[in-house]
Amino acid sequence: MRKRFIAGNWKMYKTTKEALAFAQGISSLELPSDVVVAIAAPFTQLAALQEALAGSGVRLAAQNMHFEDEGAYTGEISAPMLAEIGVDYCIIGHSERRQHFGETDETVNKKLKKAIASGIEPICCVGESLEIRDGGEAEDYVASQIQKAFSGIPGGEAVGVTVAYEPIWAIGTGRTATPEQAGDMCSHIRHTLGTLYGTGVSEKIIIQYGGSVKPDNASALMNTRDIDGALVGGASLVLEDFWTIILA
Ligand code: PGA
Repeated sequence: MRKRFIAGNWKMYKTTKEALAFAQGISSLELPSDVVVAIAAPFTQLAALQEALAGSGVRLAAQNMHFEDEGAYTGEISAPMLAEIGVDYCIIGHSERRQHFGETDETVNKKLKKAIASGIEPICCVGESLEIRDGGEAEDYVASQIQKAFSGIPGGEAVGVTVAYEPIWAIGTGRTATPEQAGDMCSHIRHTLGTLYGTGVSEKIIIQYGGSVKPDNASALMNTRDIDGALVGGASLVLEDFWTIILA
C-alpha cells in the first residue's frame, strides 16, 4: 500500500512570524496516522520551523536546491545545507522554477541525484502547458519529462522519489484538472515509470496531483487509483483549508 502524502507549497509567502503561527496551529492537531504531511517553506523559515514542528509529525520540505554540494553559486542553497538542518524533502523542477529560473530537465535530473545522495527525498514536478495539452501532446511531453528526470537513477533509489503531476494551466488559476484528467495522467506517469523500472518499482512510487487543489475538490481528486496525494499551493497557506485537504 502506498502512503498518502499531502505537501503544502508555500512558495514566496509568509514571514517567519506567520510561519511559526501556522506551525503552532498545526502542531495542536492530531495528524491522521495514514497520511504523511509536509510543508515546503521558504529557506529563511526552515530552521525555525524545524524546531517549531518537532514532535508534531509534520515533515519539512524545501522548495529548491542546487545540484552541487558547494561552490561559487551566489544565492544558492545546497542539499547538504538542507540536510544539516533536518529538511526531509525538497521540491525539484516546479514549473515556476522551470519558467522563471531556467530549470531544465537536465538540472532536474542532477538535482534528483544530489537530493537522493544527501538523504533528502525529492518531490519531482512535471506537467504540461495549456498549449501542449490543446495540441494533444500532453502524455508524450510528461512521459519525456519523467524519462529525463529519472535518467541514470536506479530503481532502488527511484522508489524514494515522489512525483507531482502539476499541469501548468491549473496552477494558481483556480482551474483545476478534472479527477479524470488528473487521474489519467497520473496513471500514464505510473505506466511510464513501469516501462523504466517494472511494476515492482512503479507501484511503490507516490504520485501527487497539484494545481488548484482546494477543500472542495480534494477528495474527488484523491479518490482516483493512481493519485496518492496532493501538492497544494494557495490552499496550504490557510491552516483550516490545508487541514480539510489532509482529512480528505
Ligand atoms: P496552487 O499551486 O495549489 O496554488 O494551484 C500548486 C503548486 O504550484 O504547487
